[in-house]
Amino acid sequence: MPQTTPPSADWWRSAVIYQIYPRSFADSDGDGIGDLPGITTRLDHLTELGVDAVWLSPFYTSPQADAGYDVSNYRDVDPVFGTLADFRILVVRARDLGLRVIVDIVPNHTSDEHPWFKQALAAGPGSPERERYMFRDGRGPGGDEPPNNWQSAFYGPAWTRVTESDGSPGQWYLHLFDAKQPDLNWANERVRAEFDGILRFWLDLGVDGFRVDVARGLVKADGLPDYPVQFQHASGESGLRTRSPLFDQPGVHAVYRRWRSLLAEYGPDKILVAEAHVRPPSRLAQYVRPDEMHQAFNFEFLDCPYRARDLRAVITESLDACGSVGAPSTWVLNNHDDVRHVSRLGLPVGTWTDDGIGPRDQQPDLELGTRRALAMTLVQLALPGSAYIYQGEEVGLPEHTQLPDQARQDPMFARSGGRAAGRDGCRVPIPWEPGTPARGFSPSGRTWLPQGEDWDRYAVSAQRGVDGSVYELYRAALRLRREYGLGIAALQWVTLPGAGEDVLSFQVGDVLVVASIGGGDVPMPAGDVLLASAPLGGGALPPDATVWIRRRAA
Ligand code: GLC
Ligand code: MG
Repeated sequence: MPQTTPPSADWWRSAVIYQIYPRSFADSDGDGIGDLPGITTRLDHLTELGVDAVWLSPFYTSPQADAGYDVSNYRDVDPVFGTLADFRILVVRARDLGLRVIVDIVPNHTSDEHPWFKQALAAGPGSPERERYMFRDGRGPGGDEPPNNWQSAFYGPAWTRVTESDGSPGQWYLHLFDAKQPDLNWANERVRAEFDGILRFWLDLGVDGFRVDVARGLVKADGLPDYPVQFQHASGESGLRTRSPLFDQPGVHAVYRRWRSLLAEYGPDKILVAEAHVRPPSRLAQYVRPDEMHQAFNFEFLDCPYRARDLRAVITESLDACGSVGAPSTWVLNNHDDVRHVSRLGLPVGTWTDDGIGPRDQQPDLELGTRRALAMTLVQLALPGSAYIYQGEEVGLPEHTQLPDQARQDPMFARSGGRAAGRDGCRVPIPWEPGTPARGFSPSGRTWLPQGEDWDRYAVSAQRGVDGSVYELYRAALRLRREYGLGIAALQWVTLPGAGEDVLSFQVGDVLVVASIGGGDVPMPAGDVLLASAPLGGGALPPDATVWIRRRAA
């Protein structure tokens, strides 16, 4: 049954937004890589699930050195994903189904195969073409040393030296990520103007907004000073308190103000979402001030250790920080960069997983992880604000932790010399039907990454209509969330008589949410049970479970 798009310009304040990773959602042409026509044929899955919008990870022309986050043409579709005509059809179908469409914008860097970068190489030092990127002379004798000590988020140095057209060793260019992702120079007005045009291009095609990749990174500290700390991984800096010269510089905000007013020309309901690993929440809130972006992913929530007191603190801090600037919080547990929550929460509490999980790493306890993950999902979907769901989590898909080295494609794996398993394990093609080759992902049976051997059980059609399945839990949660206005109502913490410190309990509207995080059984409060993440026996809430109870606020 088609849903109706919330008419209000404020639809995003409580929206549930589903992330599609195009490579891995559905493949229509049998090459083993998902594509836009594949997505279009499966969009009804999302209305059945009950989400409001989709966010598509990049499908633009790209050498795919970082799975499409290395764009060589921002105004076209990569042939592997289809054509612009396919995109138009996707948007029309989404409209018909009442789904909004958000696309990814990658402004921090281009591909090294982007025409601009090729021109920069050809034009040589000091040219306006080089000014669009971050070229610098090297340090030391002959300029043989990189300009500073910055490290790439994907391991290794953040600088690569070029060979000038006369064959001599030349300047260095900055890349916070892979060497095939040269950073743009956002001090350059030509760069800013170009991105205005790119935003307009997609807005003219009818998109509802943009997820802004590496939003904290566009502007670097003046003079590109050495960083006393070598940060180690994609999601942030190491433990030292020094503010990184690479990220979260005050200059980034002018870019988003400019974009906000550009979007406003297209109507009040177009949105910007920041991917900004910034802490604490009060600093993140600067990205969602009234004249900047609309939302920012809440990585603090994703990264929060599975402990009631930590969760309570993060939730309170997030609501306060975003609330102080009039923005909704977002609630995120999964995406294409992080170990899936079913697996992450199956490791000892607080285990660091930013490098991914491979066969040589400690393996998660999936039974425990799934219980905890579902308990967290029912916390997430009850919280006021906007919630993000990453494809596959609605069937409880785990991280693929047994991918063989030769299958791995994340540049992080190669750049770390295999030390970091990388992010492929959360990017494996979705199983749709059990038993068939590729489990319905591709008509040819091919998949660009192998699915897990026992993944029949995670096939969407194996869970549809099955009582107690993860899929039906998500569907019920999304239906009740809508019915009870959970994303909109305010949150009040509740202290339940007899509940210990492992219990998280809060009231939103007419719903009391009780989560037993770790701990033991929790006596069940009075009221009608609307939904529970685990079977309730003997009138108690078991450990690692969340229940939604209908009860008027005290
Ligand atoms: C963001 C993306 C990630 C990508 C990186 C570089 O963090 O989410 O997938 O590798 O930016 O573009
Ligand atoms: Mg394909």
